[in-house]
Amino acid sequence: MSKMTDRDFVTFFKPGQLEAYHQGTMNYQYRGMPCVKSPLDLAIYLALLWDAKPRTVFEIGSKAGGSALYFRDAMRSFGLDGSIVSIDLSPPPLAIEQVLFCQGDVHDLAATFQRNDLHSRPRPWLVVEDSVHTSAACRAALQFFAEHLQAGEFIVIEDGVVADLGWSDRYEGGPNRAIAQFLQDEPGVFEITAYCDMFGRNATFNPNGYLRKT
Ligand SMILES: C[S@@+](CC[C@H](N)C(=O)[O-])C[C@H]1O[C@@H](n2cnc3c(N)ncnc32)[C@H](O)[C@@H]1O
Repeated sequence: MSKMTDRDFVTFFKPGQLEAYHQGTMNYQYRGMPCVKSPLDLAIYLALLWDAKPRTVFEIGSKAGGSALYFRDAMRSFGLDGSIVSIDLSPPPLAIEQVLFCQGDVHDLAATFQRNDLHSRPRPWLVVEDSVHTSAACRAALQFFAEHLQAGEFIVIEDGVVADLGWSDRYEGGPNRAIAQFLQDEPGVFEITAYCDMFGRNATFNPNGYLRKT
């Protein structure tokens, strides 16, 4: 997969299409549970899970637990011996086999990792940051996992599409600002991967957001 740098964050979606596509995504359910991922990203994640074969998926932002269930089911169907750790300020009161729901704040992942002994979870890791989408929150996740991911492991920073929806200000620049600044401040730590472009240039809700630790 080729290295990609100096890319803008404009998504593939045209104004007039994006709003309805976003609405459908917000309403999407997986096995009867809300699962707020765009269909293209659901497909990209399947490819990434198959390729990367993580043994632990860390998800930050559980909501109803639908995306954790989706990741768990995909890993099971691929025969991967792994589990999901889903962290949220307010985790859902669910018991799902192979999924650990933990209380935690994206701004202080060190405390959550320590409290739940998460550093010992089996590798490789795949991280999905899907919590509050502010620039500061995404930066905090990038900073923490820059230190704790190993070379070749992935982190996905979700929902930079808020910029194309015109909502950047609500998120202090959002994921796109965090990614751009982090790549500039700390070059060579993460690389943008071609998962962003599987279906067209940044045809994803996570523009330039599929990152690999170098
Ligand atoms: C976009 S939803 C997650 C969607 C879910 N991953 C999915 O795809 O269905 C965001 C979640 O992040 C949680 N959240 C908000 N602020 C947070 C924070 N500071 N730390 C951790 N989780 C947070 C919210 O409680 C909410 O459940």
